[in-house]
Amino acid sequence: MARKTPYLPADRPEITIFVRVISKETIEVIRDTARVEEVIGDYVLLKRRGVNLLGLCPFHNEKTPSFTVSPAKGIYKCFGCGASGDSIKFVMEHEHFTYPEALKYVAKKYNIQIEETEATPEYLEEQSTREALFAVNQFAENHFIQNLWEHEMGKAVGLSYFHERGFDDATIKKFKLGFAIEEWDFFLKSATEAGYKTEYLKTLGLVTSGERTVDMYRGRVIFPIHNLSGRVVGFGARILKTNEKSPKYINSPESEIYNKSKIVYGIFYAKTAIVKNNKCYLVEGYTDVISLHQAGVENVVASSGTSLTTGQIELIKRYTPNITILYDGDAAGIKASFRGIDMILENGMNVKVVLFPDGEDPDSYAKNHSQEELEQFIKENENDFIKFKAGILMKDASNDPILKAGAIKDIVNSIALVPDGILRTLYVQQCSELMQVPENTLNNELNKIRREITRNKMRKDGWQEQELIPMPEHEMHEKQLDVQEIVFTTEPHEKEVLRLLLNYADRTIQFEQLSDEGAVEMIDTTVGYYMVQDIMSDEISFNHPLHQLIFDEVAELINQHKYEGLTQYFIHHSDPEISKYVIDLVTLKYETSENWLNKHGIVVVTEESQMMKTVFNVLYNFKAAKLEQIITDLRKRLQNTEDDSTELLTDINDKQMIKKSLSNQLSVVIWK
Ligand code: CTP
Ligand code: MN
Repeated sequence: MARKTPYLPADRPEITIFVRVISKETIEVIRDTARVEEVIGDYVLLKRRGVNLLGLCPFHNEKTPSFTVSPAKGIYKCFGCGASGDSIKFVMEHEHFTYPEALKYVAKKYNIQIEETEATPEYLEEQSTREALFAVNQFAENHFIQNLWEHEMGKAVGLSYFHERGFDDATIKKFKLGFAIEEWDFFLKSATEAGYKTEYLKTLGLVTSGERTVDMYRGRVIFPIHNLSGRVVGFGARILKTNEKSPKYINSPESEIYNKSKIVYGIFYAKTAIVKNNKCYLVEGYTDVISLHQAGVENVVASSGTSLTTGQIELIKRYTPNITILYDGDAAGIKASFRGIDMILENGMNVKVVLFPDGEDPDSYAKNHSQEELEQFIKENENDFIKFKAGILMKDASNDPILKAGAIKDIVNSIALVPDGILRTLYVQQCSELMQVPENTLNNELNKIRREITRNKMRKDGWQEQELIPMPEHEMHEKQLDVQEIVFTTEPHEKEVLRLLLNYADRTIQFEQLSDEGAVEMIDTTVGYYMVQDIMSDEISFNHPLHQLIFDEVAELINQHKYEGLTQYFIHHSDPEISKYVIDLVTLKYETSENWLNKHGIVVVTEESQMMKTVFNVLYNFKAAKLEQIITDLRKRLQNTEDDSTELLTDINDKQMIKKSLSNQLSVVIWK
């Protein structure tokens, strides 16, 4: 299907664009039809081993096969080199295909017809509008550049302004800086003459859309904003006169091609350096980015035009987990950095801060110092967020215990946002040393805040606090599970919890709850939400650090309702250790279950059909194992203590009671 491009000037020859897309439906058909063992079988000799297939890995040299294919899960995994994925990924990796190429290859194997030209008119319309907008912006960028270098006013006013600011020609050209002539319609005329539709100029905020259509930027220097691939998505236009009432910057509005919350200024020029340095500097303004570049620091972007957003942080996260904030040392800069710190932590990234001396910003500092001095300054003043916050908050608190307590809470609030449990522990240790407060105290506060965060999230999402109704004592007598003989080590149970979460997080389950009026009502929830809520509200931790890590991340995703592709997300996790572990976990299934029943007391019901029972069963085993561990520890302490043991005995008794009540609850669900 061919369409005319709507934005091309009338006097140019018509160009026809062919748009080819593979429809979502086709992709689904391909994914559903492709058998991983058949696709890979074309390349690798596979032999059956139990439920899996085994062969020599095509991605690294090996003599004994460690390349495993699981037809049930539709995935492959090499235990030698760690390569893993599904059938499409295999073809992509093996043939160095792009995603569409791999889809086409697999489709051909299965004779699936790809309706490439069946793009909907809406899709084409949308695509061609986007292309039109890009073309207009590109024209505008060229226009402003030409003004700056060739127009008398541009040279006299714009170029000399940049030179005065210390930008050299190479820098000005690199960032494609420009100038808007100070006339009512200099740009409008030029764009219209070239054949561009006024409608698009308005959409992009290049001209006004009021009664009279005139240029939006007049007598301003222009900073084009580029996306990841270097295309112009918008502009920032800075005023040159200081005494005017109009705003310092006029920025492009959001449009189909410019989503402000997902773009940072300078990312196109910075991304390679960010990867190379494994760090991204975050500054406030366009001019800071440009000055630092000129000074040789290229891994730098600005959240210009908006305050920092999650989308912007996620963009940076594609290239590095490390962000260093470089802000002014004034009150506004500090406040902005505090907000930035929390957002970055929440996204699971590491954050450091450099404050510039009051009255200076990275731009001015870079201008007045050599590259060595600049790099030295950043190196010496780069503080991790705890030290940074403590420094600022304690400056005011000095010896006032109430203020100090406030400062500590403020820091713990930030730590509580970190999704990674191990990292949180390390931060707590650091904070404890720095602030001279016992870790325990900090942990108590931290747990309180984390529970509150989870509850708030759940409340916001419309979930109610849930409570189970134990069965009346006399009814459940003979139905009770015998838990005496079970060997209690928690790790297999932790594994089961994760396996359920990873496989069935989005399944709906129902359970009973007492309403305020005392009536029994059925509550709909999901396996994921229920398990996460249950474990977190009981404050149960995992013994195995990797388990805790995975659980924290699962919980985070589920709390954000990100069920879709949960398993795949972990299978393709950026941390290879997690990815490997999860693949083992989801392929584990029942291969060892009979053994487990004997060894660890894990009762396996056919879980798909009896989801609720499975969930309760697994949670129960996990909690019971944890409790048993605690009780054992208490007993040991009881044996070794000379002191009054009443408290220990009470504690043991309490835990026994909890365990009993747990098993009562379980029996209601399992045997009802
Ligand atoms: N900004 C904006 N609108 C304004 C003021 C600021 O969009 N009215 C954004 C711009 O992206 C700017 C950033 O906030 O780059 C930082 O503001 P500021 O420090 O005032 O501007 P600089 O770009 O640093 O300009 P200069 O160095 O010339 O003061
Ligand atoms: Mn500034």
